[in-house]
Order: sequence, then structure tokens, then C-alpha cells
Amino acid sequence: MGKTILITGGAGFIGSHVVRLFVNKYPDYLIVNLDKLTYAGNLENLADIEHRPNYRFVKADITNLQQVNTLFHEYRFDGIIHLAAESHVDRSITHPLDFIQTNIVGTVNLLNSAKEKWQGHYHEKIFYHISTDEVFGSLGKEGYFTEDTAYDPRSPYSASKASSDHLVRAYHNTYGLPVKISNCSNNYGPNQFPEKLIPLAINNIKNSQAIPVYGAGENIRDWLYVEDHAKAIDVIFHQGKIGETYTIGGNNEWKNIDLIRLLCRIMDEKLNRPVGTSEMLITFVTDRAGHDLRYAIDASKLKNELDWSPSLTFEQGLVLTVDWYLANERWLRHVVNGDYEKYYEKQYQHR
Ligand code: NAD
Ligand code: DAU
Repeated sequence: MGKTILITGGAGFIGSHVVRLFVNKYPDYLIVNLDKLTYAGNLENLADIEHRPNYRFVKADITNLQQVNTLFHEYRFDGIIHLAAESHVDRSITHPLDFIQTNIVGTVNLLNSAKEKWQGHYHEKIFYHISTDEVFGSLGKEGYFTEDTAYDPRSPYSASKASSDHLVRAYHNTYGLPVKISNCSNNYGPNQFPEKLIPLAINNIKNSQAIPVYGAGENIRDWLYVEDHAKAIDVIFHQGKIGETYTIGGNNEWKNIDLIRLLCRIMDEKLNRPVGTSEMLITFVTDRAGHDLRYAIDASKLKNELDWSPSLTFEQGLVLTVDWYLANERWLRHVVNGDYEKYYEKQYQHR
């Protein structure tokens, strides 16, 4: 066996793509997936690789130090790729404490276990923390986030992620823990939980339900296909420098309303509905509190130093995504169960 890698949050959206990439690409690695299986964690995401000899799943909670320490005693990890988090901004507005617990306390638990278990071997280890561009705040019409942009988080979610980034850097500066961080823009693609804009809109269009667009739909996000993010994580894990940060983005900015209109056109075509059918579902609703206007990433460091760039156009990625959701009705049916219905009603009924 080569390296033993711990991937946290591997049953979630991005984590499942990272686990699949590593299990397939590195048959001599042992990939250990630690996940609590919250509403967002789903082992169906990994059904195709779950019996591979180089893969293990462990149900555990990163906020539980004992569970984390037990895992570090069972396995001799060479590296950690830390994705486990509460990840939805709207939920952070209604339940901020869950975000403080998992994103901050959970990260510190992992840092502490790694610090203690790896003592004397830091030169051969990597603690890679996966973060978000939201830590940098909100851009106006001009400019880009880079690795040097000052932190200015504005939601409980982004504040909790910013806090975890600071702690990861603090463990590097104070204890010499070998860390890397990347901050990525909005991901989309197969297996994303339909609380996030694109899968929520796909599911609603499919069911001929209203598509809720916050405010005037003028907010801008920089979209990246999830498999391209997974490839960037692979490159940074293996070739990125210790102590460094990398920003990752799609160079693909879209106003929400334009994105939704494009998605509507693709859905009409795929569902054989007359052009314009889905657009009629667009419904402008009360804006998100503290809604960041624009995110956009300058990923030139990653391109120049590690030769990574996105492989798909947005239209290609969206078609792949729509095809996946239409072909995986069972997956969608399982995740939009009773809990999702309750969440959806609470989140959208008064908007
Ligand atoms: P997700 O919500 O789909 O998945 C999160 C996973 O973490 C789930 O499998 C969940 O069960 C697990 N988890 C949650 N709390 C846990 C706990 N206490 N202990 C163990 N496991 C726990 O999230 P995602 O969209 O895949 O995001 C993954 C990571 O990437 C997060 O750290 C997020 O901040 C970051 N990120 C996401 C995006 C994006 O667009 N989705 C962009 C940039 C960065
Ligand atoms: O930028 C990276 C971040 O992208 C990640 O760190 C987060 O984990 C991820 O959730 C995502 O955050 P956003 O808030 O940008 O994603 P979301 O899909 O929730 O919303 C995208 C945009 O669409 C945002 O401007 C809000 C808007 N929106 C969202 C929903 C759910 C709507 O207009 N209607 C909706 O129903």
C-alpha cells in the first residue's frame, strides 16, 4: 500500500467526487472516508466504489474528539483532505451554532489529533483544508479574489469557514503543522443536494414548481464543475507547497437570473417541452439576508504554478448536470424525503 489518506465529508457533494477520483486514480492508496452522514451526506453517492479494496467508510462526527482520536489510533494517516462542513448559507442564517460546532470545533479537533499523532513526522504529512471563496466577502462590479485578498466574511457560514482557515494557518505558524488551504468558488454537478440553487431549480422545473430567485436575481457567482474542483484538489494535495493557499475558480461568472434562464432552456429541450415553458416558473422572492453581491476568482497562481484550469464550458457542465439529475430519479427521490419537504416549506413559504 502507498499512502493512507483521510477524507472528511466524503459522502457529501464535493467529497464524494474527491473520494471517487482518489480511489480510482490511486489503487495503491488506502482512502478512509469519515462522515457523520448529516442530511447532506449520502452513501448512495459512492455506491460504485464502496466495495473497492482501497476504500473504507467510517461513520463519525468531527465534533466528537474521542471519535476522531480513535480513528487516528486505528490508521496511520499520511494525509488529510478536510471537506466535512455545514455548507449551506441559508441554513447558517437560521441555525448558526451548527456551523460553529462542525466548521470550527470540528476542524480544531482534526488539527489537534494530527498535531499529536504526527509529532516528529511532520515532514512526511499533509493537512489539506478545503475552504471557500466566501471568506473574502463580497465584490463590487470590478475585481477578483486572489490568495492575497483580505478576509471579510459576511454570513455565519463564511465566518465559520474563515475562522477554520485562520486556525489551520495558526497551527502551521505555531506548531509547524504541514498545512495547505484552497478557497474555491461555487461548485455544481451531479450529487449536489437540492437546497443549492442549480439542483433546486432542476428539481422544481422537473416538477413544474416555482423557481425561487432571491431579490432581483442580480447576484453573481463564479461556477465550476465539481469534477474540475476534485482535479484541482488532487493537484494541490500532491504538488502544492506546504503553508500555501490556492484560489480555485471557473473563470465563469453568471448573474443568477441569466443562469436560471440558460438552465430553463436546457430543461425545456431535455423534457421536450415548448421553448419558454420553464421560464414561466421563475418567481422573484424576498432576498437572502446579507446576500453577497458578487464572487469571482483569479486562479492564475494555480494555472501558472500547477498547470490546472477548468476543462468544461458552463453549457457543457450544465448539460451533464441536467442529464445526471434526469437519469437519477431514484437518488433525487431519496433525498427529497420528508425532512427536505419540511426544510423547503420553512425556507420558502414566507418569501
Ligand atoms: P455538503 O454539505 O454537500 O457535504 C458536507 C459533508 O460533510 C456531508 O457528507 C456531511 O454528512 C458531512 N458532515 C457535516 N458535518 C459533519 C460532522 N460534524 N462530522 C463529520 N461529517 C460531517 O458540502 P459540499 O458542498 O460538498 O462542500 C464540501 C466542502 O467544500 C465544505 O467544506 C465547503 O465549505 C467547501 N466548499 C464548497 C463549495 C460549494 O460550492 N459547494 C465551494 C467551495 C468550498
Ligand atoms: O462560493 C462558494 C460557496 O458556494 C460555497 O462555499 C457554499 O458551500 C455553497 O453553498 C455556495 O454558496 P452560495 O450561497 O453562493 O450558493 P447557493 O446555491 O445557495 O446560492 C447561489 C446563488 O443563488 C446565491 O446568490 C443565492 C441564490 N439563490 C439560492 C437559492 C438556494 C436563489 O436565488 N434562490 C435559491 O433558492
